[in-house]
Amino acid sequence: MSQDTTLINKQRQDLSQHHSVWLFGYGSLIYKVDFPYLERKAATIEGWSRRFWQGSHDHRGTPEKPGRVLTLVETPGELCTGMAYRVTPEVFEHLDHREKNGYLRFFTPLSFDDGSQDQGLVYIATEDNAAFLGAAPEADIARHIAGSSGPSGSNAEYLLKLHTGLAELGVTDPHVEKIRHHLVQYL
Ligand code: SIN
Repeated sequence: MSQDTTLINKQRQDLSQHHSVWLFGYGSLIYKVDFPYLERKAATIEGWSRRFWQGSHDHRGTPEKPGRVLTLVETPGELCTGMAYRVTPEVFEHLDHREKNGYLRFFTPLSFDDGSQDQGLVYIATEDNAAFLGAAPEADIARHIAGSSGPSGSNAEYLLKLHTGLAELGVTDPHVEKIRHHLVQYL
């Protein structure tokens, strides 16, 4: 039931001519930094919102019982703040594998906290991918998260570490807050 996007990402975007590329992280890429980077700084993208609408068969769930993790959903006017990392192109070998369960990488404009701007890559699981779960009430999402875990750990840990990472960036995300509010009753 999963769709491995590793090859699609490689074929769509040849990054070998770049000396370095900015990667924008809005979910686990904020708090789980298992790759080398040249520099990092907080950044914001416009027109996107975080949503726990993507199924996870490989990290926070299993093929039989997928968890729920983040993707971005187009929302005109919304700002999404996360962490940007400047990485060498080879790092995408690792990142494409890590984000293989339905995520495609897209270039998007980044506005950094220091006022500068650049293009960067962001991994988005679009609604046409096989692992997409879609919208649900936040209380239902919390119950789903509370009952899921996979090779990378519990689904609740994903949400709680994200919440801490966002707080360190000074970000309060209403969708994440609502799910956390419901989730704590199960912990
Ligand atoms: C991201 O963090 O930017 C992508 C989604 C995830 O891996 O949680």
